[in-house]
Amino acid sequence: MIPRFNAADFSSVTFEMKEAYSRDGVLVLDQMIRPEDCDALKNRMTEMVNDFDYDSHRTSFSTIDQKHAQDQYFLESGGDIRFFFEEDAFDDEGKLRVEPEKAINKVGHAMHDIDPEFNRVSRLPQLKELVYGLGMADPLLLQSMYIFKQPHIGGEVRCHQDATFLWTEPQTVMGLWVALEDATISNGCLWGIPGAHKTDQPKQRLRRTADDKGTEMITLDETPFQETGRLPLEAPKGTVLAFSGLFPHLSGANRSPKSRHAYTLHIVDKNAEYPEDNWLRRNDDLPARGFD
Ligand code: FE2
Repeated sequence: MIPRFNAADFSSVTFEMKEAYSRDGVLVLDQMIRPEDCDALKNRMTEMVNDFDYDSHRTSFSTIDQKHAQDQYFLESGGDIRFFFEEDAFDDEGKLRVEPEKAINKVGHAMHDIDPEFNRVSRLPQLKELVYGLGMADPLLLQSMYIFKQPHIGGEVRCHQDATFLWTEPQTVMGLWVALEDATISNGCLWGIPGAHKTDQPKQRLRRTADDKGTEMITLDETPFQETGRLPLEAPKGTVLAFSGLFPHLSGANRSPKSRHAYTLHIVDKNAEYPEDNWLRRNDDLPARGFD
């Protein structure tokens, strides 16, 4: 059993919360984000998706030999707001098969520093208190993602650790996963392996290729993630899941008629070394910031 904490009146991290986070690698905080703030992000995202100019970015998504364009589009997304679609969203000519809002998989990775509404919610006082309270000395909000998990077609995300994607030495990445809608087993909530963050070293690392034009996944430990002990992390709207970068987690496909929108933030400690070959980079015109 993973304990749940009611965080409707959250003011600081309690001893029990700290203990749960350190033991399980994940902390479940119900009602931490008000429904109005969840809706504010959903509404803003709807506007952003509707404003997105598909035609000018069609090559980035076309299935015809556009790997490099896709790589560039992704590699530059660390300091921008970019739109990523479900795999079969485009036909051979790069045209969307369905309406944009039904075809989009996620948006990332700097909404929290570019868009005022995302900035506001990402830096709510309770989130700041949470991150400092869980022991991050000098937090940098490095990455934000809006994940749609579309009804019927939202794909599964295989078991992974977030340290794979945001490497620091030592490992410091912390994920905050905010349920903007109810996340249940049937619409593809997260699952995790409590306690495995203590035994599992990072199994893989995504880094830029030597020519800096793409990415490659390197395997550090071939042992597969354990199949046993995976528990669902159902999360009603407004719940925040905070987890360690080493916490193995996954999510199932969404075959239900309900969407499962979630907003995630990834935070690293400024004092840790951030390797140059990490995929996510910020330019000097948009340096990563903390909560202030
Ligand atoms: Fe993840």
